[in-house]
Amino acid sequence: MRTLILLATLLAGATAQAQQVNGAEIYKSSCAMCHQDQGQGAAGVAPPLKGSHWGKLSRVPGYAPGVLLAGMHGPISTDEGTFNGVMPTQNRLTDGEIAAVANYLVHDLAGHKDAPAATADEVATLRAKPLSVAQWRAVRKQALAK
Ligand code: HEC
Repeated sequence: MRTLILLATLLAGATAQAQQVNGAEIYKSSCAMCHQDQGQGAAGVAPPLKGSHWGKLSRVPGYAPGVLLAGMHGPISTDEGTFNGVMPTQNRLTDGEIAAVANYLVHDLAGHKDAPAATADEVATLRAKPLSVAQWRAVRKQALAK
């Protein structure tokens, strides 16, 4: 009996969580104030989350979720010029929320529907063994140099 109740509680929790996770909604509430509603970015505020560089960044495993966990700072070049701001870590979001918003970014804002999707499990692994901002910057540089 106890096992059944536990199972029912777990299932209810899992369903509630799956229903809550909507990448577009998370983007609207957590990202659009800086990156703007269509991910176009704004000069002096935040870089665009679309453009030719996302052709490559979209295919780097863990890049978007990794930046969300680590945050970002230091100069980065985009189709809209160079940005040099500070993005605070988004690590208050759950693993599922980070995966969902990263997939919304890559598939919808950047428009690369064929890019591999991030999963909550992958985000959990990144969270357990985080890379630093400097390491993600090196990954970005290497991906864009190819
Ligand atoms: C307070 C403003 C702010 C918020 C909120 C914010 N960002 Fe950022 N984001 C930035 C800035 C500024 C940079 C660039 C930092 C730099 O110049 O190095 C950035 C960089 C990024 C990058 C790296 C871009 C690239 O070309 O490599 C990604 C990906 C990203 N943000 C996604 C998101 C997502 C998704 C959210 C919401 C969960 C979010 N950001 C929330 C300000 C913000």
